Amino acid sequence: MTVQIVLCESVDHVGARAADIIEARVRQGPAVLGLATGGSPSSTYQELIRRHREEQLSFGQVTGFTLDEYAGLPKEHEQSYYSTIRREFVDHVDLPLERLFTPQGDAADLVAEAERYDAAIATAGGVDIQILGIGANGHIGFNEPTSSLASRTRVKTLAGATRTDNARFFPDGDVPRLCLTQGLGTIREAKLAVLVAMGENKAAAVQAMVEGPVSANCPASVLQLHRRAVILLDPAAASRLSMLEYYREAQEFNDQLGQTPTRPWLQEPALQQG
Ligand code: F6R
Repeated sequence: MTVQIVLCESVDHVGARAADIIEARVRQGPAVLGLATGGSPSSTYQELIRRHREEQLSFGQVTGFTLDEYAGLPKEHEQSYYSTIRREFVDHVDLPLERLFTPQGDAADLVAEAERYDAAIATAGGVDIQILGIGANGHIGFNEPTSSLASRTRVKTLAGATRTDNARFFPDGDVPRLCLTQGLGTIREAKLAVLVAMGENKAAAVQAMVEGPVSANCPASVLQLHRRAVILLDPAAASRLSMLEYYREAQEFNDQLGQTPTRPWLQEPALQQG
């Protein structure tokens, strides 16, 4: 089990280092990626798209599973996470659309759909790299505070704070109240979790995730139990960490030893922060 904290200089630097990790795995052969939407992974997707265009990075052998989906929205809806991930990433690379999966938000039986989706991930061999953002309230996926740390993909009620945060994407103000999300237990099964966070409004959640107790109050803290989690932060998102100097020092040693998170797929870090 390792949690590796990577202190980055900027949002673009976060994206570049996350892209390094993903590229290393994708170039090895068939890979299953768990795809978060939202603002946080945007610089990562931009960098992967650039490498696809300029450095022949192919996603032809990649299967993608979105992390979550709004309930009630058909796939084609502009704000569905299926449409969003296509617009932000998949439509700009060569990932075959028939291997891009999302929970069906407008399924007649949402409970059965959630179970089907969880099973589909397992059938695909599980997620190799799960890309994650974190909500200001500590959620990952749409696992809001008080989510079970062992939860599977299921129907969840969105927290008021999350609906307010996401209202910017719904000009009519009609943010769905329910969603389907991979559970915390599902996310824990990914072989590697890569969480990217940037901005001051994430600093408190990042501090709770890394340095607080493992608690359903901060669902992202479940990553402390993950077999391999890499947490990439810009200076603002890292600003409330009380052990910042310690993380910086460990990172320097790992860099000196050539065991940077650039290739975590190939090498275990020499020093573990947690
Ligand atoms: C998105 C998701 C959410 C976001 C989180 C942060 O698929 O599951 O957990 O990662 O709400 O959102 P942004 O990145 O927009 O700040």
